[in-house]
This record gives sequence, structure tokens and C-alpha cells, in this order.
Amino acid sequence: MPADRMPLLDVRNLCVSVPANGGMIRLVENVSFCVDEAEIVGLVGESGSGKSVTAMALMGLIDSPGVQVRGSARFRGQELVGMAPRALRALRGRDIAMIFQDPMTAFTPVYTIGWQIDEQIRAHERLSRRAARARTVQLLAEMGVPDPARTAQRYPHQLSGGLRQRAMIAMALSCNPTLLIADEPTTALDVTVQAQILELLRGLRHSHGSSVLLITHDMGVVAQTCARTLVLYSGRMAESGPTSTLFARPAHPYTAALLDSIPPLDGPRPPRLPAIAGLPPTPRERPAGCAFGPRCAHVHATCLPAPPALASIGPGQQAACVLPAEGTPLPPRATAQATRP
Ligand SMILES: Nc1ncnc2c1ncn2[C@@H]1O[C@H](COP(=O)(O)OP(=O)(O)OP(=O)(O)O)[C@@H](O)[C@H]1O
Ligand code: SF4
Ligand SMILES: [Mg+2]
Repeated sequence: MPADRMPLLDVRNLCVSVPANGGMIRLVENVSFCVDEAEIVGLVGESGSGKSVTAMALMGLIDSPGVQVRGSARFRGQELVGMAPRALRALRGRDIAMIFQDPMTAFTPVYTIGWQIDEQIRAHERLSRRAARARTVQLLAEMGVPDPARTAQRYPHQLSGGLRQRAMIAMALSCNPTLLIADEPTTALDVTVQAQILELLRGLRHSHGSSVLLITHDMGVVAQTCARTLVLYSGRMAESGPTSTLFARPAHPYTAALLDSIPPLDGPRPPRLPAIAGLPPTPRERPAGCAFGPRCAHVHATCLPAPPALASIGPGQQAACVLPAEGTPLPPRATAQATRP
């Protein structure tokens, strides 16, 4: 991106803390990234790494008692952190929309999905019920929902997982948002439907001019979809950069371990894929130094007293790991996975 152009979303040092044991614990710590116009950026990490908390904080949707959101998140130059709830509500659905991790969170079980999408449209635009329904049916059709007029009359629980997901994307897109935050939009789906939903998300850049922040724990999904990727570990940034660079030359051992756990895109599938031993620490149990230390094969004395700072290590690539200056350099990756954003 040219230096003089403002990113669509510019997040800097985002911190989210909640009260615990008489103090505050940080669920998310100093997360920074940008999303450009019509760009898909991936936010990856294992369960509990802070992906949803980051997204919900951006949308002003964390309603935990005593929660503190600090740092900055500028959407088209407008600061979202600390924005009045009413102004933020107006932005949501109109400019920024979210696909929730659980489709049932987005839909109320007691109304048809068509009614709910109609209402979302009518909350932001003065349209008759009939005109709103026509838009709803058109959106469902664009999302590849068969027989959209009839499907609109069905209740959420009457739809398959794939159809519900498509309906949720239709609802998120109903007001032509500039930015779509998609939290694990394909996790519960089978491989074929997953591929269709990812194709749909890729197409949004052209069909709706939308940018997407795609949250997933699956590096395979990132490889197929995202131009740039941000890797989170225990609420902190481990690494970020162009997806192709991250896949070819991961700098952080955690990124490398995540990559080792995805099946190869070409050739025979190995009988077992290596998983990362152990679990990430919860925010309460995070060690003083690098949070990945207890699981890292390269851990050494320098990593332990304090978390290593994020450093620039190449064009657009940053990593929070003191390798290779202090430790054993990461072995080069045998094969670079193809990426297809
Ligand atoms: N309101 C809250 N109060 C206290 N802790 C919370 C709260 N919300 C989330 N957490 C904790 O913050 C951490 C990050 O949670 P988050 O939901 O963002 O993870 P995630 O990366 O989205 O994981 P998953 O892949 O399972 O969806 C977890 O340890 C979670 O238990
Ligand atoms: S800082 Fe140390 S413990 Fe953390 S990932 Fe790098 S080598 Fe491993
Ligand atoms: Mg989540």
C-alpha cells in the first residue's frame, strides 16, 4: 500500500483486560494490524489465543463487567475504541458487519431467517417490507442458497449448517458493509461446503468491494484465502506478514509448528500430522517471558525473563521471537506451501 494511503482498518496496540483476583488480566495485549480496501487478512491461532476477543473488541461487543479496551482501532480514520455506543451501533451492520463464530448467535430461533434479514435491512434503510424481502431473496440467491424465496421463510433450526452459514453471510452483507469480520465461518462445515464459503468470501472483494478479516485456527484456510496473516498466541502477536512469506519462511517457531500441522496441498496426505504438544496458557497462567516458551523446541535463556518484543524482520513481516540471533535458527522449510489469496 502506498505510504500516503490510509488503511481501511488500522489497529494499534489493542489491549483488552478483564478484572480478576483484585487486578486486571490481559486477554489481548498490544495487537496491531491493518486491513486495506478489498483485502482479506487472516487472524490465526489455536483455541483461546484471543481471536474472538480481538474481533468483539473492535465491534464494541464485549459486555463483560469491568472490561477495559485500550489502544487504537481506526476505521477510515474514525477511532472505534471509546466510541459512543450509539455511534458504534450505527457503524455496525452499515459499515462493519460480523459473521459470528456460532451462527445461532446471529439468528433468533423464533423468527424466520428472511424476517431477520429484512429487519436488519430496514434498520439501516427506509424500505417497505416488500422491497426489503426482495433484497433478502436476492442476497440469499447471491450466496448460493437454492430456492431463496422459500428458504427465507424457514426458521434457523430448519436449515443445514452450510445454509445457515450462507444465510448469516447474507445477513452480514445486507447493508453492503465495507469490512466483514468473519469469525471461524467454515469450522463446522464439511470440506466441500467450506470450499464454497471461502470462494464466496474471496468473491466479496469484487462483488461488494468488501474487505474481510478472516478469523480461523486453520492455516490451510489462510493459505487459500488471505493476502496477509496475523498469528496470535496467548493474546499476543507471534508473527505477521504476507501469507506467502509466512508460509515460505516462518520466523516464529509457533508459526512453523502451525504450518507443520496442516496437510500438504499437493501429493499424498501423511497418515498422521504432527500436532503441537501441550496447550497454550490461559491469560491467567501466561508465563513471564515468551508465552510459547513451555512448548517451544528452541527455548533458551533470553526468552524467559520478559516477552520478546515484536521486531521487523523483512518487508511487511514482523515476529516476536529472538531467533536466530540468540537461539538456534529455525530449520528451513522443506516445501513452501502454495497460497492462493
Ligand atoms: N469475557 C471474558 N472474561 C474472561 N476471560 C475471557 C472472556 N472472554 C474470553 N476470555 C478468555 O480469553 C481467552 C481468549 O478467548 P477467545 O474467545 O478470544 O479465543 P479464540 O482465539 O477466539 O478461541 P477459539 O478458537 O476457541 O474460538 C480465552 O482464554 C478465554 O477463556
Ligand atoms: S522467543 Fe524463545 S521460547 Fe519464544 S518462540 Fe522464540 S525461541 Fe521459542
Ligand atoms: Mg473464537
